[in-house]
Amino acid sequence: MSPGVAIYPGSFDPVTNGHLDLIERGTKTFGRLIVAVLRNADKQPLFTVDERVDMLRQVTRGFPMVEVDEFEGLLVDFARRRGATVILRGIRAISDYEYELQMALMNRKLEPGLETVFMIPAEAYSFLSSRVVRQLADLGGRLTGLVPPIVEQKLRERLK
Ligand code: PNS
Repeated sequence: MSPGVAIYPGSFDPVTNGHLDLIERGTKTFGRLIVAVLRNADKQPLFTVDERVDMLRQVTRGFPMVEVDEFEGLLVDFARRRGATVILRGIRAISDYEYELQMALMNRKLEPGLETVFMIPAEAYSFLSSRVVRQLADLGGRLTGLVPPIVEQKLRERLK
């Protein structure tokens, strides 16, 4: 296990089993993993940042090397403040690649010492996203196996 600090940034609105799969993979590769929720004034989220952080903390309780935090502004500034040397991102399909490449190269331009590492989640989650989960919950679809039980409960409460 490498002792490095990695940041896994995202919106996590809400955290899915695909995110959790990546977090678990990250814990096997990095000494410390900071899951960082973006505080983004532009978006209209379903859950507040506090709610998303709270759900993430509950579902990552079993991983002592995982910390959940939030950030505002540039990711590279947050990474510098937290002493991270790696940004961890998941790539599900080719369609993710273009956006991820653009973001990774921009972050490299801003902070050449920060390396973006891509991991591929289990193929069972390759179709899964927070957006799809929100839509499914809104339309009354089954969420079993797609999100942790506490997230399913929160979604049902929010959308009933
Ligand atoms: O889960 P998401 O919405 O795909 O995550 C996107 C995120 C939070 C990783 C990205 O929007 C981000 O890092 N935003 C912070 C602003 C920033 O640093 N932008 C410069 C890179 S292009």
